Amino acid sequence: MTAFVRNQWYVAAYGREVGRALLGRTVLGEPILLYRTEDGRAVAMSDRCVHRRFPLSQAPSRLDGDRVVCGYHGFTYGTDGGCVYVPGQQRIPRTARLNTYPVIEQDSFVWVWIGDREPGDTVPPRAPWMDSPDYTVVSGMEPIDGDYGLLVDNLMDLSHETYLHGGYIGTPEVAETPITTEVDESAGVVYVSRHMDDAECPPFYAKSTGIEGRITRWQDIEYHAPCLYLLHSRIAPVGAPGPNADGSDPHAFHTEVVYGITPSTETTTYDFWAVARDFALGDQEVTDFLRENNHTVVMQDVVALNVLQQSLNTEKAGYQELSINIDTGGLAARRILARLAQAGTGQRSGATAR
Ligand code: FES
Ligand SMILES: [Fe+2]
Repeated sequence: MTAFVRNQWYVAAYGREVGRALLGRTVLGEPILLYRTEDGRAVAMSDRCVHRRFPLSQAPSRLDGDRVVCGYHGFTYGTDGGCVYVPGQQRIPRTARLNTYPVIEQDSFVWVWIGDREPGDTVPPRAPWMDSPDYTVVSGMEPIDGDYGLLVDNLMDLSHETYLHGGYIGTPEVAETPITTEVDESAGVVYVSRHMDDAECPPFYAKSTGIEGRITRWQDIEYHAPCLYLLHSRIAPVGAPGPNADGSDPHAFHTEVVYGITPSTETTTYDFWAVARDFALGDQEVTDFLRENNHTVVMQDVVALNVLQQSLNTEKAGYQELSINIDTGGLAARRILARLAQAGTGQRSGATAR
């Protein structure tokens, strides 16, 4: 199992999922209740009533204004987690308080801070395409019955597109083209690039861009451990001019593929997926096609990772993997996750020792 990394921001939901209905999510094993106050602020607190642990996200629990009323015996909590009402007595026990979680709403995501200390100046990494007027976005979330490390591995090595996603986003050139990998240890970011000069155009891009011939296809990955994965994808007809020195790139089509990789439990993961594009912005047919096609691709990964987790569960301890050049990005990501996990644990045990 891939160790959890605490003292980090995680995507708990899309902003659109958090409203005046109670939403329950489990992040790093912690049950979290999310809702929006009457003035529109997203709040996050423990999803277990302090009385008999009833999940506050479950009916008949409900909101009363900005307060949450437990559906079992009526304990009532304010947005600061403090209990304001218990049935049958005036005195409210001092310990009747829910843990609350720092929340930042950014780039259409609701991020929650999971940790033993306050976030201080630490802010979530950015995915500005998610709510930019210059992009049109399709997005969704799929749960995976697998360790989040399996999804990190999957996304860091796109050679699997050729095999698992053939006929959708995969073509022979993806697996055939070598990658370059760079690591920014201090920032905890892994970069993996694969630039294909002359490649078949897969249906995903042929149908959405209208390109008929072969393409130049660039895949530039940025993985901000632990939770945010970005794939900058550039598609242009072979022979089209490259990007200009000022960064503009009028002859190419761009998609920004965004994943929030959120460990839920040790064996389950939330896969928040999105594709933002800078072309055919108002074209509903393209939007519908990309949503449908990308959802199919995501499900191909989900099914494969579920199967993989099942098979790993039956492995004898100490099995040996074999890694090759395509795995350098994934291995770098694992190293960073292990280092961050250890750092988080160190802080926690340090605090306990005092
Ligand atoms: S379990 Fe919530 S009030 Fe009893
Ligand atoms: Fe995939």
